Amino acid sequence: MAGHEKFNFKDILELDAKIREVGADITHSDDIPVLSTPIVINGRECANRFAILPMEGCDSAPDGSPSDLVRRRYERFFLGGAALVWWEANAVVEEGKANELQMMITDRNVSSFASFMADMKEKSQRKNGYSPVSILQLTHSGRYSRPHGHKAAPIIPQHDPILDPRVGLDGDEDVVSDEYLASLPEKYAHSAVLAREAGFDGVDVKACHRYLLSELLASHTRGGIYGGSFENRTRLIREIIRAIRKAVGDDFIIASRFNVFDAHPYPYGFGVDKGDMWKFDPSEPVSLVRMMIDEGVSLLSNSAGNPYYIYPQVTRPFDLSSMGIPTPDEHPLESISMLFDFTECIQRAAGDVPVIGNGYTWLRDFIPYIAASNIERGRCSMVGLGRCAIAYPDAPKDVISGKGMDRGKCCITCSKCTQIMRDHGTTGCVVRDSGIYAPLYRRFRAEAEERENG
Ligand SMILES: Cc1cc2nc3c(=O)[nH]c(=O)nc-3n(C[C@H](O)[C@H](O)[C@H](O)COP(=O)(O)O)c2cc1C
Ligand code: SF4
Repeated sequence: MAGHEKFNFKDILELDAKIREVGADITHSDDIPVLSTPIVINGRECANRFAILPMEGCDSAPDGSPSDLVRRRYERFFLGGAALVWWEANAVVEEGKANELQMMITDRNVSSFASFMADMKEKSQRKNGYSPVSILQLTHSGRYSRPHGHKAAPIIPQHDPILDPRVGLDGDEDVVSDEYLASLPEKYAHSAVLAREAGFDGVDVKACHRYLLSELLASHTRGGIYGGSFENRTRLIREIIRAIRKAVGDDFIIASRFNVFDAHPYPYGFGVDKGDMWKFDPSEPVSLVRMMIDEGVSLLSNSAGNPYYIYPQVTRPFDLSSMGIPTPDEHPLESISMLFDFTECIQRAAGDVPVIGNGYTWLRDFIPYIAASNIERGRCSMVGLGRCAIAYPDAPKDVISGKGMDRGKCCITCSKCTQIMRDHGTTGCVVRDSGIYAPLYRRFRAEAEERENG
């Protein structure tokens, strides 16, 4: 390992030298126009190779519908030039919300999603000449459910001696029943039907970041029909995909954002070597990809790690960690290289099915060069932007227009948006959107300190 370091490169030559020094497989290309080439997903054309990754704000209206802050965030995404907007985590059941204000499409509020979506499609079409493909991320937060107030209300598929104490469990509680899990496919299917009615192009069966479906993938110690063997651990995902397909027909994208690698020890982690949790074992993730494609999934996005645990660099490489999280030993370029390798592995397994890569934000204004190279090399089909998008929503437009990215607008990977989430607040970019989010950061920090102290 090369040791952690903050971003400090004047030009691409300096970055290249560091990449060589740490031995990362990160390359760049000057063929920026490759990022403007269209790509078709299940009959829908994406006008370019930029995708906005799901970025939740924990700021929906109390009934789960788009609040003013949600509308503002998506208007910025829709007009910023990306060809695909992967909407944030949307709970399929109330008890599976990760926070009180998580997005949740329901029979009662679907019309407000529909009118907002129609407005966004019209505005983006008028402004950019295309409207981004929209995917809604369907989620059940499982272990990280907290539907009311500040009290965790975990729903766990298996006990985990490392993660249980962190959500207030002592190991004696019941794990979620097979009957409960078997009731979920129809809830996912109903949310998908509502999403289609609201004008979304598809839904994501979310299985990343150790929420319910992600933890189920790793539930080696669970008994019954949803635990133990690979067949059992993937059963619920299969049942959900089938239920959605039956409910929405063929002309609708079913996507999945899933964890390729948990960075968590066997028998509690997925995609990890049985003897070394830091070693990637691609065999099950690759089988999962093939299974999902056989079931009709036509878009994938890989992620990794557990943002609630102490190795968040596995999910999002950073300069500064959030409070109480140790700075990792590895260089951010090593973490990025690992994420690119995961995407490449999944893209190779997926063949023609597009995979959206991640891990770009730390690279600031060098993103277009590295992204162009990854597209040229076939390491991914689209380039996903997470924190970059909330800091600098117009980045795709600036790249596509030839203007290039402005470093002064880029995310500085300070983890303050994550800190707000950890403090149970509504989040956004504290640095580049400071008019709104700097006061919110201070307010939720103070409230969290008050709770911690008494
Ligand atoms: C504030 C915040 C909210 C996020 N919300 C979601 C989410 O709703 N669903 C999801 O799959 N990932 C979510 N993520 C993870 C991002 O989509 C992305 O994988 C991660 O930030 C790494 O990409 P980046 O380096 O471009 O930021 C979130 C990350 C942050 C910082
Ligand atoms: S607060 Fe803004 S600058 Fe800091 S990590 Fe989040 S998006 Fe990036």
